[in-house]
Amino acid sequence: MTNSAESNSIFWERGCTAPNVESIVFRTHNRILAPMFAPETRGQVNTLDFGCGQGATVNFFHQQGYNARGVDASSKDIGIACKIYSDISSKFEVCHVDPAKNDCYGFPSNISLVTAIQSLYYLSDDNLRLCVQKLCSSMRSGGVLYATMMGPQSFFFANSTEQPDGMRPVRFTSTRQTIDHYYVNFTMDESHLTRKFHFLSRFISANMRLTTAKAKAKNFITPSVA
Ligand SMILES: C[S@@+](CC[C@H](N)C(=O)[O-])C[C@H]1O[C@@H](n2cnc3c(N)ncnc32)[C@H](O)[C@@H]1O
Repeated sequence: MTNSAESNSIFWERGCTAPNVESIVFRTHNRILAPMFAPETRGQVNTLDFGCGQGATVNFFHQQGYNARGVDASSKDIGIACKIYSDISSKFEVCHVDPAKNDCYGFPSNISLVTAIQSLYYLSDDNLRLCVQKLCSSMRSGGVLYATMMGPQSFFFANSTEQPDGMRPVRFTSTRQTIDHYYVNFTMDESHLTRKFHFLSRFISANMRLTTAKAKAKNFITPSVA
């Protein structure tokens, strides 16, 4: 494992309190998924949250009627998710931080939606490619990957330094938190985002949409998988 992957793994093993489902999740549902899947069919629709943390997104999709699962490399967060959402604890699974060590994530096949909110940018370019290829290999035709990436407008970028493998160490102390031994794979702009996910053209027939969020700090990728 690289230094950055090991450091991030240690960092996230401390846990990350995030009890609420993000608006970018329920808005995605309203805009993309809800029109695609009638409520009575959702039990057969597989959704996966990659880097699910303490499980709020998985619980949201479960409540909407989907067959939702979540994976995360932090056994602490998965343990907390299983306690908070004890009725769906079987839907949460610890994955290895190294994508090469996971055969697949969540489901071997037939995933309709993968969400990866604030999680893919903790992987180096090589690991990101491997991870997303595995996720896409398990998706059904027309499935959607919805992910956020971190841009240079972020406060974290201002507190990071360059390193040869592209993973930038972030270090700062604020009144709220101390960040150290923490690495981010930043995405500089939309063309960088396109280059970063270029390998997805293997999976995509058409219809890849990359949009830069108005919020500036984050980029969204929502490709439709062939
Ligand atoms: C900022 S938290 C976001 C959690 C959740 N998605 C949310 O939006 O509240 C980042 C999460 O990504 C997970 N993560 C980081 N690298 C990972 C990897 N290589 N494989 C799986 N999960 C990873 C961390 O353990 C952590 O729970």
